[in-house]
Amino acid sequence: MDLTVNPAGPLTGTVTVPGDKSISHRAVMLGALAEGDTRIENFLPGDDCLSTVRCLKAMGVRFSGPDSDGALTVHGRGAAALQEPADVLDAGNSGTTMRLLLGILAGLPFFSVLSGDASLRRRPMARVSAPLKQMGARIDGRGNGELAPLSIRGGALRGIDFHSPVASAQVKSAVLLAGLLADGETSVTEPVRSRDHTERMLHYFGARLTVDGLTVRLAGGQKLTAQPVPVPGDISSAAFLLVAASLLPGSDLTIANVGVNPTRDGILDVLGRMGADITPCNRRTAAGEPVADIRVRAAALHGVSVGGALIPRLIDEIPVLAVAGALATGETVIRDAAELKVKESNRIATMVAELGKMGAEIAELPDGLVVRGGRPLRGALCDSHGDHRVAMACAVAGLTARGATTVRDAACVDVSFPGFTGILASLGVK
Ligand code: S3P
Repeated sequence: MDLTVNPAGPLTGTVTVPGDKSISHRAVMLGALAEGDTRIENFLPGDDCLSTVRCLKAMGVRFSGPDSDGALTVHGRGAAALQEPADVLDAGNSGTTMRLLLGILAGLPFFSVLSGDASLRRRPMARVSAPLKQMGARIDGRGNGELAPLSIRGGALRGIDFHSPVASAQVKSAVLLAGLLADGETSVTEPVRSRDHTERMLHYFGARLTVDGLTVRLAGGQKLTAQPVPVPGDISSAAFLLVAASLLPGSDLTIANVGVNPTRDGILDVLGRMGADITPCNRRTAAGEPVADIRVRAAALHGVSVGGALIPRLIDEIPVLAVAGALATGETVIRDAAELKVKESNRIATMVAELGKMGAEIAELPDGLVVRGGRPLRGALCDSHGDHRVAMACAVAGLTARGATTVRDAACVDVSFPGFTGILASLGVK
């Protein structure tokens, strides 16, 4: 599917964005490991989270819904009730599905094979399988065990103290989930704090764990108890609207019910530093996660430098941040973000290529990119590279450009933001 967007007027009113992808995945997985019914409100019915549901169904987990309110219920019977899948588990395009399920499968006494689409089969998996192998799981795969399909023979794990070389919530979460199913204690220490949804949700489901600086520690063998999970709107989806409304003169938009977990809200800090007019209000907590309504008004943006510990707090927002940088005055420099090269596409290369087609002065750095902003963009024929966030970033750029922009192969927006075009249309975008 190709998506054509035309230059847009101001974005005004109040909207909501679909549920948080990271939290939806975790609610489904912890719900499957817990005993009892976990009702997930505002579950994200995006392709990635549906991949997690499909894999768990293949292990005998029962679900009902989503019902008319968008709630999905997981009928958990504890980890011991999970069964050997009869066929290859297909994680689709979803790194979170593959990596977190690897952690669970490592702890279960059966054989399984995990695979995914062409993009996921190119992404590094040894960062997860190496610590799981240290815990006692037998895992192998293509490319000397680095690439899916991966075979897993799990069970009888022992806890380890793991120092992760990458700040990755997927790695941390996989080891913690395996640790929950292991004998003894497991700890994970990260170089920089990554998103902490797993820790918050484990605690919310009744597990005891301690967080000491960059180290998370838990004892194995703990039982989880099902809990209702109201999923907040995904700040990573809201980011596209925050940037669009900041750039389109006259905009005054409120995005209601957005997750503002401090390990995820780096985009608010950076856009604020660029001069954006963004106010989170009505702050509250739901199922252990901070939530707010976010008001954004158009403002003149200027370039910034972004790097260091901020990067994991906005890693998924960098494609759309590059768009903001292209339209801000001065230079925007993004460093310490080499992880972007191993996302659904190489997001440094793909954003440089696509914004370049629209006339942006943008270049790759070894660990990021630099964009010299302030030049108007022109509509172009862009390619999503099969990457949902690249597709939506190009669409946002198109809203501000002169002439129409077509994003080829844009069906992938459904991976994380089903209804993206509908929300834009409801705001008057053609
Ligand atoms: C995610 C963690 C991040 C992020 C991804 C979702 C998660 O990946 O980019 O979209 O839900 O844990 P890494 O853990 O590889 O940094």
